[in-house]
Amino acid sequence: MSLARRIFDIDDLTPEEFAEVLEFSALRNPPKVLSNKSVAAVFEKPSLRTRNSTEVAIRQLGGGVTTMVDQEIGIGVRESASDIAATLSGYHDLICARVKSHQTLENFALVSVPRGVGVVNLLSDQSHPVQALADVLTIKQLWSGGDHPKLTYVGDSNNVASSLAKAASYAGIEVTISSPEGYEFDDPFLAELNVGEGVVKKVSDPKVAVKGANFIYTDVWVSMGQEDQTETRLKAFSSYQVNSELMGLAGDGVKFMHCLPAHRELEVSADVIDSKDSIVWIQAENRLHSMRGLLLKLFWKAN
Ligand code: CP
Ligand code: NVA
Repeated sequence: MSLARRIFDIDDLTPEEFAEVLEFSALRNPPKVLSNKSVAAVFEKPSLRTRNSTEVAIRQLGGGVTTMVDQEIGIGVRESASDIAATLSGYHDLICARVKSHQTLENFALVSVPRGVGVVNLLSDQSHPVQALADVLTIKQLWSGGDHPKLTYVGDSNNVASSLAKAASYAGIEVTISSPEGYEFDDPFLAELNVGEGVVKKVSDPKVAVKGANFIYTDVWVSMGQEDQTETRLKAFSSYQVNSELMGLAGDGVKFMHCLPAHRELEVSADVIDSKDSIVWIQAENRLHSMRGLLLKLFWKAN
């Protein structure tokens, strides 16, 4: 298998590769597989966790990283995505990118992959695979019950929900997605999220959806780029807040998850995210370990 891969979503890894990434994430002192290598990290949207975890993971593996934010390179404004990818491919061994439109990843890869340079998605409007790796790593670390923990995602059927569902499905986790009408995945798309042995289903009433859940997950109601829809969205999602009442309807010992950044008193109440049942900081730290695991998979054990 070539090093020049497109990792645009979780199912760009096989189930076996996905399991290997999680295994490698546990290696705290791995070989410096990025020694003498360089990574381009492109951000068309803001980032705290993804930028830091990516840069630190690269450095821990002995590599160099050049991070560029939107205004510096002006994708499609200053020059085309293809010209940017062709240029970056001459300097770097991998392009990691957070993009406004998923199509930009395609445009990068079309040019960079034939030049031997892969592309990893650091969040697009469609998917957020590097977040989902950390989320499933976190669930696997903390879950000591039976084979198939139950995860309920409450909120917007968005990029985070979609990659999370695929990763959970690969890991045999049962997923229920609860979104208001108009913000749900349609049935054919939902079926496509069932990529593994876990079942992904939707239940629109959050109070029903959380019954028996071991993990409750939410994300922002207004994603980056949707700011002009804020008023409509806040109304539509008002009964989908994860608060102590909703947590109380779930299984004993239920844990709260959020990819962050969080908005207290919107998608989650402060008493839930700041409670002992919240595992958001473990998730955030695991962004580093899982990113390092993914890079090890791509550059150490490519086959
Ligand atoms: N969860 C996440 O991707 O955080 P950032 O947007 O801060 O990178
Ligand atoms: N759904 C959010 C995730 C942020 C990490 C967004 O796309 O803005």
